[in-house]
Amino acid sequence: MYFKEKHGFKEDFLWGSASAAYQVEGAAEEDGKGRSNWDEFVRIPGKTFKATTGDVAVDHYHRFKEDIALMAEMGLKTYRFSVSWPRIYPKGKGQVNEKGLQFYDDVIDECLKYGIEPMVTMYHWDLPQTLQEEYCGWESRNIIDDYENYAITLFKRYGKKVKYWITLNEQNVFTNNGWVIAAHPPGKKNDMKMFYQVNHHANIAHAKAVLAFRKLVPGGKIGASFAFNPSYAIDCNPINAMAKADYDDLQSFWWMDVYAYGHYPKAAFKYLEAQGFAPKFEDGDEELMKEAAQVDFMGVNYYQTVVVEYNPIDGVGASEINTTGKKGISQISGKPGLYKNPANPHLKTTDWDWTIDPMGIRMCCRTITSRYDLPVVISENGLGAFDKKTEDNKIHDDYRIVYLKAHIEELKEAVNEGCEIIAYCTWSITDLLSWQNGYQKRYGFIYVDRQEEEGASMDRYKKDSFYWYQDVIKTNGEEL
Ligand code: BG6
Repeated sequence: MYFKEKHGFKEDFLWGSASAAYQVEGAAEEDGKGRSNWDEFVRIPGKTFKATTGDVAVDHYHRFKEDIALMAEMGLKTYRFSVSWPRIYPKGKGQVNEKGLQFYDDVIDECLKYGIEPMVTMYHWDLPQTLQEEYCGWESRNIIDDYENYAITLFKRYGKKVKYWITLNEQNVFTNNGWVIAAHPPGKKNDMKMFYQVNHHANIAHAKAVLAFRKLVPGGKIGASFAFNPSYAIDCNPINAMAKADYDDLQSFWWMDVYAYGHYPKAAFKYLEAQGFAPKFEDGDEELMKEAAQVDFMGVNYYQTVVVEYNPIDGVGASEINTTGKKGISQISGKPGLYKNPANPHLKTTDWDWTIDPMGIRMCCRTITSRYDLPVVISENGLGAFDKKTEDNKIHDDYRIVYLKAHIEELKEAVNEGCEIIAYCTWSITDLLSWQNGYQKRYGFIYVDRQEEEGASMDRYKKDSFYWYQDVIKTNGEEL
């Protein structure tokens, strides 16, 4: 939309950056932490790039003070990090681990010392392994009470110090990767019935946490972070426009409608019922979902958009994810009878074949504003790249600056168009473990000296993008 006058970001806009426990902390067996499903999964041959693990990660557990001091130097307004459930409850429930609780108290206090708003993700994929072994984790309704109990523990302990909370990170991704393409734990393939059931359990767990939050953290803000890939129909052929509607219902609104409205999109539900995949409800679920449809914001992790084209019933299915960084090896994937996602000829891609589309971030904000009229927290956005440290310890990541600048410009347009955007968190603050891509796929403003093999110094170095973002924050996004 064209506006003669443009307004920038609000004065209290939260310029941020993010991380997740398994990807940064390390200290996998320290201070009473229990094992997680990821501690097990990474040990299955072939599951991660060069068999990398988060055992040591980037040692944030021991270096959080140094990392947060760097955030402060950068001028960061918010730091989004996740709490490791098995650090709090080593067995998922029962005996709480005081040392684990204390660690996050220390992280939060360190942030507050510098005026950095802590933003807590309660679940970024590391499930206590005991719950996996006892009742198959998210596959059982038992998870609902255990998650609620864990959530209440966090609200009681940190509710006075933390305002922004995210219940689940990318429910759509951890369930798809876990039960459809076998790329995440528990490593199941095409188990569509269970995929939707697991999601239903996660929705009920989320709902219970939101309701507990209202009682325990007055004035706090809570939402979920959704991996939103806005879609474009490939052309104006009505069959492709309908394929886009199917895609949107089944790939986006299936989750966001639940967080915002407390129900599943109708056409998608009908379709899944006919397929025999619709989730089984228990008495009270419907009412609970409705009652909890009161998130304060929609969390959005935005990386790319997709193109949608009709896919005949004998058409393509799922394809492998590019975990090597060898550009151009990804194949078209799709759902037979519904849609497929061909490449977008108008857009460039990263070395891991992720489409680069700055306007897509604005699409996310516009869609959420029109459909839900909710504020938006961009909880992740960033570029995974091969960064090189020069001999004089510099990292010239101009490509990352170009990427982030273009996305922030579009975000500014979204603000101008009436979207209420609370925060922008880049992924990620330091380099970290990329679940399946090892340590070579770097996202941070801060370079960490480590490779796939253990033993490097772990020293931190500021990339060029560090100084650039420092200026962006200083000028509240006026200077990009
Ligand atoms: C998101 C996750 O899916 O994308 C992060 O929330 C993840 O945990 C990020 O690291 C980037 O993905 P990848 O596969 O490039 O590490």
